[in-house]
Amino acid sequence: MESTLNYNKAKDWIIEENEFDHSNLGKCEAIMCLGNGYLGIRSSAEESYTGETRGYYIAGTFNKLDQYEVSELPNIADIINIELELNENSFSLEKGKIKEYSKSLNLKTGELHRHVLWESMQGELFLLDFYRTVSLKDMHLVAQKLVIVPVNCDAKIKITSGINGRMTNSGSQHMTDGEKRFYDRKYMQLVQATSESGIDIIHNTTLSFKLNQKKTELNSNIAIDRRRIFCAYDAVLPKNNSLTIEKISNVYTSRDIQNQGVPLKTIQERSLEALKASAMAGYDQIASVSAKEWEDKVWDTNPIIIDSEDEYEQLAVRFAQYHLTVMTPIHDKRMGIGAKGLSGEGYKGHTFWDTEIFILPYFIFTEPEIAKNLLIYRYLTLEGAHKKANSNNYKGAQFPWESAWLDDGEVTPVWGPVDIVTGLPTKIWSGFIEQHVTADIAYAVWQYYMITDDQEFMDCYGYELIFDTAKFWSSRLEYSQEDKLYHINDVVGPDEYKEHVDDNAFTNYLAYWNIKKAIEYYGQLQEERTRFKDLFTRLDLNNTYTEWIDRIDKVYLPTPGKQDFIIAQDKSYLTLKDIDLTKYKRQKQVGTIFNDYNLEQVNNIQVSKQADVMILFFLMEDLFSHDVKKANWNYYEPRTLHDSSLSLSTHCVLANDMCDYELAYELFKRACSIDLGPNMKSSNEGIHSASMGGIWQSVVYGFGGVRMMNGQLRIEPKLPESWNSLQFSIKWKGQSLQVFVDKRKLLIKNCTATKKVEVYVNNKAYSIDTELKMKL
Ligand code: BGC
Ligand code: BGC
Repeated sequence: MESTLNYNKAKDWIIEENEFDHSNLGKCEAIMCLGNGYLGIRSSAEESYTGETRGYYIAGTFNKLDQYEVSELPNIADIINIELELNENSFSLEKGKIKEYSKSLNLKTGELHRHVLWESMQGELFLLDFYRTVSLKDMHLVAQKLVIVPVNCDAKIKITSGINGRMTNSGSQHMTDGEKRFYDRKYMQLVQATSESGIDIIHNTTLSFKLNQKKTELNSNIAIDRRRIFCAYDAVLPKNNSLTIEKISNVYTSRDIQNQGVPLKTIQERSLEALKASAMAGYDQIASVSAKEWEDKVWDTNPIIIDSEDEYEQLAVRFAQYHLTVMTPIHDKRMGIGAKGLSGEGYKGHTFWDTEIFILPYFIFTEPEIAKNLLIYRYLTLEGAHKKANSNNYKGAQFPWESAWLDDGEVTPVWGPVDIVTGLPTKIWSGFIEQHVTADIAYAVWQYYMITDDQEFMDCYGYELIFDTAKFWSSRLEYSQEDKLYHINDVVGPDEYKEHVDDNAFTNYLAYWNIKKAIEYYGQLQEERTRFKDLFTRLDLNNTYTEWIDRIDKVYLPTPGKQDFIIAQDKSYLTLKDIDLTKYKRQKQVGTIFNDYNLEQVNNIQVSKQADVMILFFLMEDLFSHDVKKANWNYYEPRTLHDSSLSLSTHCVLANDMCDYELAYELFKRACSIDLGPNMKSSNEGIHSASMGGIWQSVVYGFGGVRMMNGQLRIEPKLPESWNSLQFSIKWKGQSLQVFVDKRKLLIKNCTATKKVEVYVNNKAYSIDTELKMKL
């Protein structure tokens, strides 16, 4: 499995592949995916290939195909496809000879570029440059440009392109065959509707041409077919002349906020008008406006600068910020972030705890408004969370393990990959019993509040989320006559290689924390009872509070062993079989343990998929002593396969805390390589969203040493050996801070300077008016 990628242009913000490998198309399709949070398009080639996965998704357009499937984000009609015939040979990199090839994504501008010098079977040479941009400024807009130059011959060129509604999600067709129409023989429109959720999706596209930079009209043959509208154009191009093709497309849906209640006809008309205006502007202008938006909204606002020997590290952080931008639906509070963003079918567009624990810190510290909206998304899904709790005979809000549209409730599929022992699909228990997500959301609410001081958010949403989730936990607790304590039995913790466990340490501690926080806030709100009257009544808070008080001190919390300091990951973990895991620790791909064991067997081995006790240390840092952390690290890390992309960054941050800097650096490198690395298959289903947040956490939390501890800001940088300096920006309670650290000094600037900022560095408090400078 040779990697086709290179990072020679890391300095120029460019990810590039130099070789076309038709067996590994998924890698670049996903990691070079374009988008703007409203839509995401996998970076498949213009011409199609077997083995490709063309994917185009719009946030929030969930559809449930039938009773056997769960709601998923449909793959909408393809607009990227352009088929070319060059002197009667269909252009394909699988035929003829590739003389020059590169495909690259410029992270700075968000532009995709493919450069090809192709020799046909007849020895005719063609130079082709393909450019593509998804506008960050106009979220509905997609633009393509293609320049063709015949190098050693005259050329007859045929171009076929349009809108292709024959797309599926691995065979599931979510769309009706909608209305299709040509306007002025120039503009194409296709209206699809999702089959169950009834969302109208309106596509428009148009092609235009230039001969040696001068506008020209080409003969066209228009056609409408089942689920497809397209046009074929003919051009004659003398040797060394250039033909430029521009394809400008847009997409709107009846789910767009501005289209609520607007008749479909009106959306069709408006979107067509918008397309005409965009086509007039043309590719270059669309691309430069979008690039400017990237500069203003992302790179200039939240720069992270790593001065290190290896430029790949800087590239990796930019790559993470790029994808964090592309995946996040900042335009609509009714939408969450998918575990694969908008870059593939993986996890069906669903939102997991990945958002709250791995991605949200990035936004809380850099764009709190976006973080707030992501939490409001959870608030808006409360109805589904109530339904879920209710159907399990619990009270309050039990958030689904996987979340889609607001009232969908639980959408985790029930059946997964093959069980190598039985030959049947494996049952997925997460949707039934992976419950920690409910506390993770409450934790994120608190974290947001502490870092931003956003009282209005708490008054409108935050308190309610914390009370409602605490209400769930207290109803979830199971009393044991034996030890007279409350337990949480039969769960899956973060480590999904242990199913049906009792007293998973992470779950119990987080549930306890959730109830405790609710008790604290209840006490605070008592004085303002009249203002929160409605909330108190709706959540029956008086009775619930009595229950919290009665139970809180009886929640079972696994404590460190007296001798060895080990905290049992769950009740049985430490009694399970210990096997030699060397082979799996050295694996090049995740999940290789399943080549030898099925999940039931893995359940009985002391092996973890991902951080579990470690993530508890990460979130509840000050609860445990350094010795306890170290002992557990030494115990669990060797038993953790990092088979989830959520594992490495947590371990990186903790390794730093434990002063194992070399290891922290190594784990950071591995975290950076989850998508960018040489494994050509691991991103096929889409990029790993949580790992993008994880890369940021490794840098800012890990090496930058930033942490919110009990409502206080701590900054204790620990640069890796090979880094000369690190610079980043964070927001703390409304103040923008710029942090610069090198081998000798730490410099923190309060750029807003309307309030003093209190920061702890090496256990000492400093109050920053405008600047803090200290020697390290
Ligand atoms: C994941 C679960 C998820 C399931 C179904 C598994 O691979 O580990 O967290 O719920 O897939 O999407
Ligand atoms: C992990 C989960 C995660 C999910 C989605 C699974 O493999 O085990 O913790 O939420 O993937 O990224």
